[in-house]
Amino acid sequence: MTPPAFAPVDADSRPLWLVPQGDDGPMLPDGVDAAWPAATGFTGKPGQVCLLPGDGGLRGALFGIGKPATPADRPTRERFTLARAAEALPAGNWRIEGAPGNYDLAHGALGWLFAEYRFDRYKQAEPARARLVCPDGVDADLVLAQAAGEYLARDLINTPASDMGPDALEAAARDLARRHGAQVAVIAGDDLLAQNFPMIHAVGRAAAQAPRLIGIRFPGDGPAVTLVGKGVCFDTGGLDIKPAASMLLMKKDMGGAANVLGLAETLARLGRARGLRVLVPAVENAIGGNAFRPGDVLASRKGLTVEVNNTDAEGRLVLADALALAAEERPALLVSMATLTGAARVALGPDLPPFFCDDDRVADALYGAGRDNADPIWRMPFWEPYEAMIEPAIADLDNAPGGGFAGAITAALFLRRFTEGAGTYAHFDIYGWQPSAAPGRPRGGVGQGMRAILHALPAIA
Ligand code: BES
Ligand code: MN
Ligand code: ZN
Repeated sequence: MTPPAFAPVDADSRPLWLVPQGDDGPMLPDGVDAAWPAATGFTGKPGQVCLLPGDGGLRGALFGIGKPATPADRPTRERFTLARAAEALPAGNWRIEGAPGNYDLAHGALGWLFAEYRFDRYKQAEPARARLVCPDGVDADLVLAQAAGEYLARDLINTPASDMGPDALEAAARDLARRHGAQVAVIAGDDLLAQNFPMIHAVGRAAAQAPRLIGIRFPGDGPAVTLVGKGVCFDTGGLDIKPAASMLLMKKDMGGAANVLGLAETLARLGRARGLRVLVPAVENAIGGNAFRPGDVLASRKGLTVEVNNTDAEGRLVLADALALAAEERPALLVSMATLTGAARVALGPDLPPFFCDDDRVADALYGAGRDNADPIWRMPFWEPYEAMIEPAIADLDNAPGGGFAGAITAALFLRRFTEGAGTYAHFDIYGWQPSAAPGRPRGGVGQGMRAILHALPAIA
């Protein structure tokens, strides 16, 4: 809720030296006596902090960044190591000094701001104490825009469904649009039927808050890019109800929506949202006398019929109608982000979202941008031979093929059926949640894939 910010440049600050780990101990900066770090056990290993006394006070601090041969702040086992400094250092402003030439200070600064995130809507959280002066040579606007998008995504995910239902998600979209001069159009309730979004209506009609399709359009001319995010504000599983342990975290089932809105926030702050379109089908997958049922056959916007074999495979249903609308306009690039399948987690775990894209050049650009921007993603295939698995007996498509083999792939294939007309389609099956705290990523909602897309966009759209 508190926006990300750097410490003011003109305020008092203390030096923070980034110290690589040499073969014979830490590679200390000139003027720092080796005796004190040695006595305190400082070796320069990644994440280690050593406070330096001086004149009866605190003179500065050393921060270990590990072996100089490796990209120092990105050891393979941990991202955002500099976030550990933000968490460990005493209150005050810190300025980075003595960083080795190959150290990526922009990545470090982003990690620091990520570490300062607090979700303080329901209880007073301890404010971040150690603040960073934006390092020389780092593009502050770029770092702040990414942090603002990440904060927004985290806030939206962390807010429970009692305060982040379809109404509130719409309000968040309207707020974003208003701040950036974009247009919003919302189709809700029975209008979804009148305007031919039968699957969004079917999934959301049993909930207390009306299902809706939220559309944002940014003014101006730009590459024709449309982002679609799954906005299931709570997923009970529907009549195929989830067991308690599986339902517990389902406030995060609008993580795809949170990520596309976060990415739009970043792009807008950078003046790169011209012509961007964002679509969010916002529903709650609830249980009631009017809930859609297992075995129902739904009509869809695109005209394909869909047999509901499991009401818990709801995300692909609401996304399908939104994707069909998006594709009608023939965008050059169509992207969906969704907390779509448990199978994606089984395959790659919570921290490595799979993405699907038929265009090798676009897929390579996305993968590389993710790798280079501490936002790892991993390509999985739209595997044609599995198309048969989503073709059931009495309808065109099956939303939940029996057996569950290749669940992330069959979900992606299902979505792809609704994207005809779009230039390139890329789909991200994200988890959107940090199960236990890591540097810069407290437990809770987290952005995934946003920076990969942000940094790949210039090359792909
Ligand atoms: N929102 C869930 C997927 C999910 C579960 C994502 C846990 C992240 C963590 C989705 O709506 C769902 O329930 N999918 C089912 C599909 C199945 C019934 C074909 C799943 O993955 O089990
Ligand atoms: Mn579900
Ligand atoms: Zn879901």
